Amino acid sequence: MTEVLKVDPLYPELDKIKKAASVIKAGGTVVFPTETVYGLGANALDAEAVKKIFIAKNRPMDNPLIVHISNIDQLYEVAKDIPEKIINIAKIVWPGPLTFVLKKTDKVPKETTGGLDTVAVRMPAHPVALALINESGVAIAAPSANLATKPSPTKAEHVIDDLFGKVDVVLDSGETFFGVESTVINVTVDPPVLLRPGPFSVEELERIFGKIVIPEQAKGTGEFSVALAPGMKYKHYAPTKKLLVVENRGILRDVIKELREKGYRVVFLCAHEVCKQFQEEKIEIIELGSENNLYEISRNLFDSFRKLDKSNADIGIIHSVSERGIGLAIMNRTRKASGFSSIYSIEDVWKYVGN
Ligand code: TXA
Ligand code: MG
Repeated sequence: MTEVLKVDPLYPELDKIKKAASVIKAGGTVVFPTETVYGLGANALDAEAVKKIFIAKNRPMDNPLIVHISNIDQLYEVAKDIPEKIINIAKIVWPGPLTFVLKKTDKVPKETTGGLDTVAVRMPAHPVALALINESGVAIAAPSANLATKPSPTKAEHVIDDLFGKVDVVLDSGETFFGVESTVINVTVDPPVLLRPGPFSVEELERIFGKIVIPEQAKGTGEFSVALAPGMKYKHYAPTKKLLVVENRGILRDVIKELREKGYRVVFLCAHEVCKQFQEEKIEIIELGSENNLYEISRNLFDSFRKLDKSNADIGIIHSVSERGIGLAIMNRTRKASGFSSIYSIEDVWKYVGN
């Protein structure tokens, strides 16, 4: 049985938080909102509880989880040999959408870290998440609360679609704020290496750290043989429907036209400004938000992928956006969701779609 509790996102009701916290303390699973996406949580220090997360999600056991904390003291419980500089940075940037990979303590079971000696840690900037961790009194391990093959959930209805009956409690606080998962950076090496771009932007990271390493994989361009983060070796969420990323605006109209001439039913995922230019085309559209506010697009992105799968189109076409700020995370998730089907010329289309 799954109990769904509506919780105020800004002023969480204490009785509901206490109820959910008692489930965590008893070794159960609770889905909770964070500022990025919903997380599927369990006591990070309890191997048996953590196993339930993997089972509910159908997640490979060697794909490590992120450990969520609500105060700096908990950081010392789960991580060791933390560079002084990182502690100072953490105190400034947390709570927030930045996850540090650090050396793990013996308290953290291997189940939580997928067998690694390192642990990913963050303090989420969401009142409900912070209240839940506080009331539970333990660090909470939580991957995104989706089935392993689905996009991360940004609304409780996505969670319910994927996990109803498989988790104990769902805390429903409406839409999450950023809509893409946290930035992950490995700080066990110097200079640090970006493992996953997210809402905490590369520009901000560079201002704080000076130099960081940004592997090509972080952009999501081109498939890679060596996985940056353990989770990345798995086939990432790709919609059941084919998704093509048109990286060259100049050919957008022709790509759509040619596909439709060949009889494909096309749905167009576009920024408001771009959708407007296609009003006359009588094409099915899923609006992503304004290009002038990439946070609007990041917030709607995963929902739009789920909508694509539910539509009766054969193919989704999405266009690229700027890689500045949160744009890099948007493009990384988009390229992965497309199975790296980036289109630069009309000929590219037929590499990914039957002619
Ligand atoms: O925003 C987020 O980070 C959300 C919310 C719930 O906090 N969580 C999330 O978790 O996205 P998940 O499991 O979907 O993604 C965790 C990522 C994976 O790519 C995983 O491989 C990487 O972090 N990761 C976790 N522990 C790691 C470690 N010790 N070393 C390297 N990468 C690690
Ligand atoms: Mg995930």
